[in-house]
Amino acid sequence: MDALEAIRSRRSIRRYKNATIPRHDLETIVDAGRLAATGSNRQPWNFVIVTEKPMIVNFKVSTPWVESASAVIVVVMDPKSHWWVEDGAAAIENMLLASTALGYGSCWVEGDVLLHEDRIKSLLDIPADQRVMALIPIGIPAETPQPSKKPLEEVLHWERF
Ligand SMILES: Cc1cc2nc3c(=O)[nH]c(=O)nc-3n(C[C@H](O)[C@H](O)[C@H](O)COP(=O)(O)O)c2cc1C
Repeated sequence: MDALEAIRSRRSIRRYKNATIPRHDLETIVDAGRLAATGSNRQPWNFVIVTEKPMIVNFKVSTPWVESASAVIVVVMDPKSHWWVEDGAAAIENMLLASTALGYGSCWVEGDVLLHEDRIKSLLDIPADQRVMALIPIGIPAETPQPSKKPLEEVLHWERF
């Protein structure tokens, strides 16, 4: 699948089939995050891949349906870095697209992550000075949502707004 096809076909998937994702595919997805654009090339990120079901079930505090995911990537950012939010967003989108390209469904989950950030950090031994920006559940899609999108002509302006 080429990049434009992945961009056009990516959808947030919130229901997954029961399956195991090969380790190599999960590494490929995180590698796409690692290669994202990042202000001044600071790369203020770490990624924790969680595949153990009892741990994934703990993430239900962020949003209940994540427990059906085969894996969850926890995006950990260094808030001391100037553009950590922008950098994290770029890495997350790259990972969503890589998941799509490999045939998996995924979703950008912030939900109640912030409310339960300390719990998630403690479960995963994430250092106190780091932030959990989002969870990315991944699995074989068990739904095909079609959210409406604004038409191009509504948001595209040539030369002037
Ligand atoms: C910053 C951000 C936070 C999001 N948090 C959640 C979330 O907590 N739970 C969820 O189900 N989807 C979440 N999403 C996914 C959006 O709901 C989804 O992208 C949007 O509805 C458009 O659908 P699409 O991704 O299929 O195009 C989030 C997306 C972004 C960019």
